Amino acid sequence: MSATFGSYQDEIYFDGLRGIVPRFPIGYDELEAKAQAALPASVRSYVAGGAGDERTQRANVSAFERWGLYPRMFVGAAQRDLSVELFGMRLASPLFMAPIGVIGLCSQDGHGDLATARAAARTGVPMIASTLTVDPMEDVAAELGDTAGFFQLYTPTDRALAESLVHRAEAAGFKGIVVTLDTWVTGWRPRDLSTGNFPQLRGHCLANYTSDPVFRSQLDPAALNDPRAAAGHWARIFGNPLTWDDLPWLRSLTSLPLIVKGICHSEDVRRAKDGGVDAIYCSNHGGRQANGGLPALDALPGVVEAADGLPVLFDSGIRSGADVIKALALGATAVGIGRPYAYGLALGGTDGIVHVLRSLLAEADLIMAVDGYPTLAHLTPDALRSLA
Ligand SMILES: Cc1cc2nc3c(=O)[nH]c(=O)nc-3n(C[C@H](O)[C@H](O)[C@H](O)COP(=O)(O)O)c2cc1C
Repeated sequence: MSATFGSYQDEIYFDGLRGIVPRFPIGYDELEAKAQAALPASVRSYVAGGAGDERTQRANVSAFERWGLYPRMFVGAAQRDLSVELFGMRLASPLFMAPIGVIGLCSQDGHGDLATARAAARTGVPMIASTLTVDPMEDVAAELGDTAGFFQLYTPTDRALAESLVHRAEAAGFKGIVVTLDTWVTGWRPRDLSTGNFPQLRGHCLANYTSDPVFRSQLDPAALNDPRAAAGHWARIFGNPLTWDDLPWLRSLTSLPLIVKGICHSEDVRRAKDGGVDAIYCSNHGGRQANGGLPALDALPGVVEAADGLPVLFDSGIRSGADVIKALALGATAVGIGRPYAYGLALGGTDGIVHVLRSLLAEADLIMAVDGYPTLAHLTPDALRSLA
């Protein structure tokens, strides 16, 4: 994909001259509404829903409205550089796709993990592949082309299984391991509870487990091809309530970059940094895990300060290119897209995701052009004013 991200709008306007309007919605609200209408009810409630009355989920989004970007003139930002250096790699943009456990089910063909990996290959936007996929991680990695992929680990209670998953991710060519800390137990999610709907317990998205030699060795041979037995065993070993005492072991699992996801408190940043992690991932899981929480964006400045130079990945509430710019200005090294790409996938498979990512990048790039911020280094907290 061209590094002139803003040129996506030229393509759209020139298509318009030929009587062609965009296949997919441009604005987030329309994207969300159309995608939700296209998804089966059980997948819709799982993707759209959050914890409790979803106050934190909404606050994640509205937090961005409390910041305004100063426009700067006579800068002549004719060329913008959105590239970032992360773990020794030069990435074309600061975007990545956050791990989404049921992304496999969000596409019409039921292979959304592969479609997402193909979108990563086409855009250069890295994918973080969840532990919870329809297709095994090796098949997902094979679709990434030259784009970096990361593997997100839900640490099981069984250490041998955790090791096996991480070593498979290394062998498959993933470039880092993201350990999610905030989901060893599922948060209270009224939408899913109302319909008694939890996809994994129905045997969905467990391919990384059922293809794993350690997981398989723990099943009764007669149960190997019984999805209900596999889901039952999965439920028993899924969530490990990790403590700081587990961090040295996690660190010892891999020489790949280790990224810890779900960190929002500066004290936790410092301890994780002391424990040898390579990056902090500031996120509240899109408000899906604990209601009554701080918007993730409000936690970001404290996390960045405590990280003291360690890369900080951020997600939760990004819905537009303007949001991307604000998160970067508040110190994020890279910014994760969650629900928006799931909705792009629901509407148009790989093409739908590519459209969503290109739209976000185009808007971010054009804001930098209009407001006079030629590089990401120009996006500092001084570029913003709090409207609170
Ligand atoms: C349907 C769904 C499934 C998710 N599954 C995972 C997962 O498997 N692992 C993980 O670390 N985070 C998971 N997340 C959280 C995302 O990685 C990310 O933190 C969140 O989507 C950001 O919030 P936003 O989508 O509202 O911007 C999931 C999010 C959604 C919406």
